[in-house]
Amino acid sequence: MLDKLERIKKQAEAAITHMQQVEEVQDLRVKLLGRKGELTAILRGIKDLSNEEKAKVGKRSNEVKKDIESLLDAKLEELKTQALDAKLQAEKMDVTLPGRSLVYGAKHPLTIVTDDVKRIFLGMGFTVTEGPEIELDYYNFEALNLPKNHPARDMQDSFYINEQMLLRTQTSPVQVRTMEKMTPNLPVKIIAPGKVYRKDDDATHSPMFHQIEGLMLDEKISFADLKGILMLFVQKIFGEDVKTRYRPSYFPFTEPSVEMDISCVHCKGAGCRVCKGTGWLEILGAGMVNPKVLVYGGYDPEKVTGFAFGMGVERVAMLRYGINDLRLFYDNDKRFLQQF
Ligand code: DAH
Repeated sequence: MLDKLERIKKQAEAAITHMQQVEEVQDLRVKLLGRKGELTAILRGIKDLSNEEKAKVGKRSNEVKKDIESLLDAKLEELKTQALDAKLQAEKMDVTLPGRSLVYGAKHPLTIVTDDVKRIFLGMGFTVTEGPEIELDYYNFEALNLPKNHPARDMQDSFYINEQMLLRTQTSPVQVRTMEKMTPNLPVKIIAPGKVYRKDDDATHSPMFHQIEGLMLDEKISFADLKGILMLFVQKIFGEDVKTRYRPSYFPFTEPSVEMDISCVHCKGAGCRVCKGTGWLEILGAGMVNPKVLVYGGYDPEKVTGFAFGMGVERVAMLRYGINDLRLFYDNDKRFLQQF
C-alpha cells in the first residue's frame, strides 16, 4: 500500500510538471481524487487493514492527497495566469503613441461674411429674418413695383416654376413680407440674408448666389439715416479708413435709388486691377423705399418713410479676400476652403 502511494505521488508529480492545459489538470484531479479515483480507492481500503497499518497508511495517504492537491492548485493557478498574460499580450496597446488628430471643419467664407454682416447690424438694433426661396411672383416683382411687362421678369433671367411662382431673383421680396407681418408697428429694422437665383453662369455670375437685404422704416427716416447706417457698416466690415460715394441709380422699389461704392480696399483709392483703375468698388444698391411699396406692405407713406439696401455676399467676400473667380465658392475644394 505504502509503495503504491509513493508511486501515485511520483507519477502525479511528473505528470503535473508537464501540464499545459487547464483541462489536463482538472482531468488528473478527477482521476486521482474523484469518487472513482486511485487515491480514493486506497483511502476506502484502509478500514480493512490492521490497526498498525491503518495508522501508517492513513497518515501517509492523507499527506499524499494534500501534496497532490496543492500541486494541482498551484499548476492551475500558473496556467490561468499564463492564459491571462497571453490575452493581455494580444490586446497590448502602446499608450505612448501619439493620438490620432481629428479633422476639424471650418466656416465657409460666405458664412463668415454673412455672420459678420449679421453681427454688425444686430449691434445697430436690427433683427435677422428670412424669406422663402421659392417665391410668389407677387412678392418678387409686383409688390416691389415691377409691373407685369418689366424686363426683369423675363423668362430669360428668372427660373419660373409656374406663372405665379419662381425661384426668387433677389432678397427684396422679404421687405414686403416683413412689412405685412409688422404693420402698423414701428420701427422696422431688419436684415434678410439668403440664396437667390438667376439664369447666369460665368466667372462672375452663378445661377445661385447670396444676398443680404436691409430695411429700416420709421417716422422721419431720411437719406441721412441711410448714409449713416451704411457708413458705419462698411467701416466695420472693411476698416475705419474706408470711404463711400453714392451714384444715382434706378430700382423700381426705391425712389430715389443709389449705388454705393467704397474706396478700393486693395489700393486705398489709388487705382489698381481690382477696381479697374477707378479707385472705387461698387458694393450695394440702396434707396428710399418707394411709397408704392410701403402701400403694398400696409404702411401709410404719409407717415412712414424708410430706406432699403441689398448687397451680394459673394461680391463682398471676393473683395475682402481677393478672390477672382466666383465658382471657387461652390467647388468645395478643401485647398481653397482651408484658407479662411
Ligand atoms: N434687389 C436688388 C438687386 O438684386 C438690390 C437692391 C437694390 C436691394 C436697392 C434694395 C435696394 O433693397 O434698395 O439688384
